Amino acid sequence: MQTTRPAGFTPDTPLILGMMRLHDHPELNKPAKLADWIAARLDEGLNVFDHADIYGNGDGERLFGEALRLHPPLARGVRVITKAGIVPAGLDKSPWQVKHYRAEASYLKGAIDRALTSLAVEQIDTFLIHRPDPLLQAEDIATVLENAVSAGKVRQIGVSNFLPEQWRWLARNTGLPLVCNQSQLSLAHNAPLFDGTLEAHLADGLRWLAWSPLGGGGLSQRIPEAILDKASDESGLDETGLAIAWLNQIPGTPVPVLGSMNPDRIHSALQGTRSRLSRPLWYRLLECVRNRPVA
Ligand SMILES: NC(=O)c1ccc[n+]([C@@H]2O[C@H](COP(=O)([O-])OP(=O)(O)OC[C@H]3O[C@@H](n4cnc5c(N)ncnc54)[C@H](OP(=O)(O)O)[C@@H]3O)[C@@H](O)[C@H]2O)c1
Repeated sequence: MQTTRPAGFTPDTPLILGMMRLHDHPELNKPAKLADWIAARLDEGLNVFDHADIYGNGDGERLFGEALRLHPPLARGVRVITKAGIVPAGLDKSPWQVKHYRAEASYLKGAIDRALTSLAVEQIDTFLIHRPDPLLQAEDIATVLENAVSAGKVRQIGVSNFLPEQWRWLARNTGLPLVCNQSQLSLAHNAPLFDGTLEAHLADGLRWLAWSPLGGGGLSQRIPEAILDKASDESGLDETGLAIAWLNQIPGTPVPVLGSMNPDRIHSALQGTRSRLSRPLWYRLLECVRNRPVA
């Protein structure tokens, strides 16, 4: 049976390609190579790329944009998510050199304009406030974000790393139709499935964009080899496919924001989005990473 997806977030892609680790791949930091990599993903039907203004120390969006400038037709095929609101200490221009949040109107407005230029796209598909900021003034940012949408700079608005009461408060006080929340969810990080967070996403119609869906690698250290082998035999999936299939059958179908840029691992992940684990296998994998059976 197909699970119901919250209606707000589009496109309904099986996987989002995370760009946080672009800098770990010097071979892809050349525009021609990155353009080839992007074209190969589009050929696979994957066209949503997840950025943030701070990835690559503020350079990630620019590298991606240089690849699109080299092959302008690519820009028409991609959809980009980007986020802003965190200032790492190294990018703080104040004398304090402190990591801090800036979910404030002027900063978000500037971040949207900078992202459009750096990414070389006409529109940001989805703009996210990167983290909840206790100093956030809802009325101020409402105007900036509404203007960005009505000017066509941004198509839809979401949040990242927000708890239910935080996104509810923001939605109530800005009137913004929030479409998604990008937060951590994986076999390795499963607590939000047991504390009401999942049900809050479903109740409020926010699509869950699940970051670190492979737990940053290392699942094989938490799941005994014999169990992984047996799970692979039963499902026909490798470790990556299993982790993604496990996510894919959670109600609301969280969209994995995959961090790997390795084509083989992306292929395995795609296989996972097309597979379904038996219910006992789903719980067996969970039991392994939690080190205990469910209550
Ligand atoms: N909103 C937020 O606050 C937030 C925070 C963190 C991340 N994100 C987004 O989420 C995306 C994904 O995050 P992530 O990179 O942590 O996700 P991930 O997909 O869970 O992890 C990818 C990393 O794990 C490694 N890996 C996976 N399986 C492995 C295996 N079997 N053996 C060895 N290494 C393995 C990959 O290596 P290979 O490169 O070799 O495949 C890659 O370095 C980011 O790119 C970013 O877009 C958002």
